[in-house]
Amino acid sequence: MKKIITYGTFDLFHVGHVNILKRAKELGDYLVVGLSTDEFNSLKGKQSYYPYSERKLILEAIKYVDEVIPEENWEQKVDDIKKHNIDVLVMGDDWEGSDRFNYLKEYVELIFLPITENISTSKIKYELQNDKNKK
Ligand code: CTP
Repeated sequence: MKKIITYGTFDLFHVGHVNILKRAKELGDYLVVGLSTDEFNSLKGKQSYYPYSERKLILEAIKYVDEVIPEENWEQKVDDIKKHNIDVLVMGDDWEGSDRFNYLKEYVELIFLPITENISTSKIKYELQNDKNKK
């Protein structure tokens, strides 16, 4: 069985999230998502609209997702790969060119998938805020 892992916050779930999860799942048989916890997000200076528990419930309802595990820090990836017998780590190609993940190539196949143009949680938040200010 080929196992895939990917990471993210997946707040305000949108079609870009669906696309990357679908493509990631198509690379193998079992997809694990490392979902950023609220504590890890605040460490990154990020605050999600939905708390971890709700983002997890939403992801678990997606047919491409087989398992959701917490992402609590930057360093856990090697442990996750070993513990879950991961073959492929998928990242959005917004990370391509950054050498942040190169060290993982020793443990796993690293694949960057194209992200979906013109949509993100930040953009949705920004535009909703703009609409509110116009009223
Ligand atoms: N992603 C994607 N296409 C988009 C937005 C996100 O493929 N348009 C992918 C990211 O590359 C990542 C996963 O979805 O692999 C989760 O990304 P996340 O950062 O949680 O979503 P964003 O909508 O980009 O959130 P934010 O705006 O807060 O960064």
